[in-house]
Amino acid sequence: MIAPARNLLGSLRLPGDKSISHRYALLGGLAHGITHLENFSTGADPASSLACVAALGAKVERNGASVTIHGCGNRFQPSDAPLDCGNSGSTMRMLSGLLAAQHGSFTLIGDASLSRRPMERIRKPLEAMGSRITLTDGHAPLAIQGAALKAIDYTTPVPSAQVKTAVLFAGLNADGTTTVTESIRTRDHGEIALEAFGVKVTRHLDSVSVAGGQPLQGVDTVIPGDISSAAFFLCAAALFPDSGLLLDNLGLNPTRATLLDLLATLGAKTSVLNLEQRGGELAGTVQLAAPKDGLGGATISGALAAQLIDELPVLAAIAPYTRNGIRIRDAKELRVKESDRIALVAENLRRMGAEVTEVEDGMDVPGGQVLHGAEIDSGGDHRIAMAFAVAALRAESESTIHGAESANISFPEFFSLLDQVAVR
Ligand code: S3P
Repeated sequence: MIAPARNLLGSLRLPGDKSISHRYALLGGLAHGITHLENFSTGADPASSLACVAALGAKVERNGASVTIHGCGNRFQPSDAPLDCGNSGSTMRMLSGLLAAQHGSFTLIGDASLSRRPMERIRKPLEAMGSRITLTDGHAPLAIQGAALKAIDYTTPVPSAQVKTAVLFAGLNADGTTTVTESIRTRDHGEIALEAFGVKVTRHLDSVSVAGGQPLQGVDTVIPGDISSAAFFLCAAALFPDSGLLLDNLGLNPTRATLLDLLATLGAKTSVLNLEQRGGELAGTVQLAAPKDGLGGATISGALAAQLIDELPVLAAIAPYTRNGIRIRDAKELRVKESDRIALVAENLRRMGAEVTEVEDGMDVPGGQVLHGAEIDSGGDHRIAMAFAVAALRAESESTIHGAESANISFPEFFSLLDQVAVR
């Protein structure tokens, strides 16, 4: 149940970034030696990556956000039982990249939502490299038969960091140099993680290459806070002119920090203090000041839509409270996330009394609207649950989020931290 708030006040330090945690868990599992990670994501998704590498023979010790992985030394043990990726598309896609060059066959399964998501996008390049992948109608369960791989030059048909990373991971054990080219630059945590594990990665304009046969060497690092989790608090604070929010140790990788630019376009001011680099990833303290006369408006399309893909649900959810509304285009990928996020955002906005126009690749949400509380359907999708908790803070009455526990997928602390900073 979410009651309306007057503003948001406080400072928070958020759990580690989900994208970075996955990559370190998977690479640490295959690496030589020990990987030690602090501030590992507390979400269920990166825990699926850890469980999979444990099932493949890595020794994983976990104490809260502190994780130690004794890697398999480039040879996973065949697993008779299917590898359960839970709700995590990142685990299924990126682990497939590592498994493509391993001896034996492996089966990857997931929950109902993951079993509906497109996997053809990794089958194509990984089969072109020589492995064999069997899907059911383009979806999981995914059976992969590892093989001696040959390098490829691959251009990703849709912007996807997961696909890029899967191909680069496969390239690690391929014969020759694997190159991935993308028309829109996606998050580069895969490239940075490979470098942290001692792999030479070559970047050239819109492409990235890795030569096969390079060993992974375990790392010791602190994972920065998750900016996609921070997005819920930044957007919530931006709605109330008297808010004061400080977020410490936040990941600020430029391929992920587009939200700060978008908030600036909407009229909010963010300042970054204490910027530092840790293992190639930028982290800093972010302070947000909301505009006194409310948020303006924005169009999010093209590269912006791809870079803000995980933040679009919360941006759409606050759009009715802006002056000029938010228009989203080129975001068709939202329809194949943990839920059809375009349809579900539009439906929940309507439940709150908002006007919204849904199109195939986005939506138009006019500004200047007054919303009432409502029964929200998260559809079991973590980002929908959290986005509408934010929308509910500015509604005229209380809202109930059904399936709120799905926040555990990326951010189990979300509701308690929201209570901590929301002033009622
Ligand atoms: C992710 C990439 C994005 C994003 C997902 C995490 C990653 O997916 O939506 O939450 O860690 O690489 P796609 O690569 O499928 O666009």
